Amino acid sequence: MKKATIILPTYNESANIKELIKSIVSKKEMVNGWQLEVLVVDSTSPDGTADIVRGLQKEHESVHIIMTGKNGLGQAYLEGFAYAINTLKADVVFEMDADLSHDPADIPHFIKAIEQGADMVIGTRYSKGGSIPANWALHRKILSIAANIIVRIGFMNLKQTEWTGGYRAIRKWVVQKITPRMSGYTGYVFQVAFLDKALKSGAQVKEIPVHFVDRTAGVSKISTPQYTFQTLWYVFTHSSFIKFALVGVMGAVIDFGLAYTLRAGGLMILLANAISTEIAIISNYLMNNFWSFAHNKVQGGAVQFILNLLKFNIISAGSIVIQLLGIRIGIALAGESYWMVYKFLTISFVVIPYSYILYTKIIWKKR
Ligand code: GDD
Ligand code: MN
Repeated sequence: MKKATIILPTYNESANIKELIKSIVSKKEMVNGWQLEVLVVDSTSPDGTADIVRGLQKEHESVHIIMTGKNGLGQAYLEGFAYAINTLKADVVFEMDADLSHDPADIPHFIKAIEQGADMVIGTRYSKGGSIPANWALHRKILSIAANIIVRIGFMNLKQTEWTGGYRAIRKWVVQKITPRMSGYTGYVFQVAFLDKALKSGAQVKEIPVHFVDRTAGVSKISTPQYTFQTLWYVFTHSSFIKFALVGVMGAVIDFGLAYTLRAGGLMILLANAISTEIAIISNYLMNNFWSFAHNKVQGGAVQFILNLLKFNIISAGSIVIQLLGIRIGIALAGESYWMVYKFLTISFVVIPYSYILYTKIIWKKR
């Protein structure tokens, strides 16, 4: 029989924890072939959460608890994952809030998605059949919706509708692969960072809709300014799309700088530009391969590396043609004086999507 451990991080959840654990334990019969266990990771709550759990342990041997310091939600999960996998021998671990915001009745749906082949299942509030609480204050709704939209666009991954939510089921291999790289993300940013790294590691991620209800007892521990900053910073520093855009800007600087230098050194204008453009293309290729798309590096040795550099050159040539066309069309429609505007618009709205799509479909394909 496979084992799933439901990890409940707690800090001052004495008003919720008993009802939640009883509800989870009552679902045990609903999942055939799986042994369900509960693991509370308590940050030594002063309100006596742990005593309540220890009381429940007398009736239910499937309930476990470990104590930790008050080091953030992500840190609590890291400790919970380690204990669940190494000590309890879990095959799948769950993340679940301990304030009754997540409905234990969804557990069988998560398990089903795992059985159907998913490596990670995420309860989403943002697709059909899911919801955020109607009674949330407006600022909380805006924060949650905006955070998810920014992350989706930042990572150019519209398919994933839920990045921040904390109701998840994860296979052991994903946890083992990702946790060593999570030490810097011990707060609520943990959720976004973990999902990003799991996707980049090739995990099959599936979403199922969940209704998130507002807690009725206790208080939220989230610190909005810190959480917002950490999330934006994470996306900015880990988004392939943003890195790809920066590489594009660096390429332009190299191209212009080198052309200018070579010309000043006495080379013919066309020759200077041919050399500078090709060097910029090669350096873009290298920066994209080892930085922007490092998780999908070109494989297969030197031959593949050169072959893909050739493809990259062809795509880059396409960018130049598209730019010239855009400028031509602009001139035909609105005259010559605004050619820089046409160039800017063509690059922003055609060249950038064109190259990003071709790079990710042809050269740095998802594996
Ligand atoms: N052990 C431990 N240590 N538990 C913690 C800590 C901590 O430092 N901080 C929070 N928790 C526990 C809470 O006790 C609760 O069970 C759960 O983590 C979620 O915390 P809340 O304080 O209720 O967070 P929220 O409802 O505002 O945040 C929700 O939205 C976030 C962003 O979408 C949750 O769903 C989070 O999981 C989610 O990341
Ligand atoms: Mn909550």
